[in-house]
Amino acid sequence: MKNNEKILADFCDVLNLTTDYLTTGNKSKHSEFEILSDSMEQIEKEIDLCTKCRLCETRTNTVPGRGPQNPRLMIIGEGPGAEEDKTGLPFVGRAGKYMDKWMDAIGLKREKDLFIGNIVKCRPPGNRDPLPEEMTACLPYLERQIKLLKPDLILSVGRISSQVLTGRSEGIGRLRGRTYDYKGTALIPTYHPSGVLRNPNEYRKPVWEDLKRVKAYLDEH
Ligand code: URA
Ligand code: SF4
Repeated sequence: MKNNEKILADFCDVLNLTTDYLTTGNKSKHSEFEILSDSMEQIEKEIDLCTKCRLCETRTNTVPGRGPQNPRLMIIGEGPGAEEDKTGLPFVGRAGKYMDKWMDAIGLKREKDLFIGNIVKCRPPGNRDPLPEEMTACLPYLERQIKLLKPDLILSVGRISSQVLTGRSEGIGRLRGRTYDYKGTALIPTYHPSGVLRNPNEYRKPVWEDLKRVKAYLDEH
């Protein structure tokens, strides 16, 4: 008798769970499942086939971003330039090589410590700013990358990525100098390395201050 009651109770549990599942809508359950089973390979595959905005028409290669599974720092630029479009790799042109020096100065290595990516994964023609609708279309990929990689800190370089990730509209000169929160991950904005190369006298010093802020944050966490 005891045994039968137990079987009945178990059966009721299963029935209740099934009812919950059906009534709360399996849509949300399904998307939770999708997030649980997400992977960097999956994201790259989707980016490679992506036609969600017009930038797909003019790209040579997609540039999904690159780095180890457990980066300490994630650096986010605005979008691939000519060299990146040619190779499929982020920040490999002049600005990227200069940024490598920044990272050297605070003891971080690309292969070990950094995931480097962009707001849009396809090159805007002629290096124009990405359009709002292009950024909106592409942002879910970056959000998934951040969720999967869980970097200790994000460094946004330049006005575009800093505005998108802080959700604020001030210029980069006003945004920098503080630490923000991006959905639970600390975020530090700074100038874009191309801007610093164009105007080193004005921007080198504040960038160095921002890099010290990055290093101090990482040393503490
Ligand atoms: N500038 C960017 O913002 N991203 C790159 O990948 C290269 C240059
Ligand atoms: Fe897709 Fe992003 Fe490329 Fe647009 S920029 S086509 S949204 S991957």
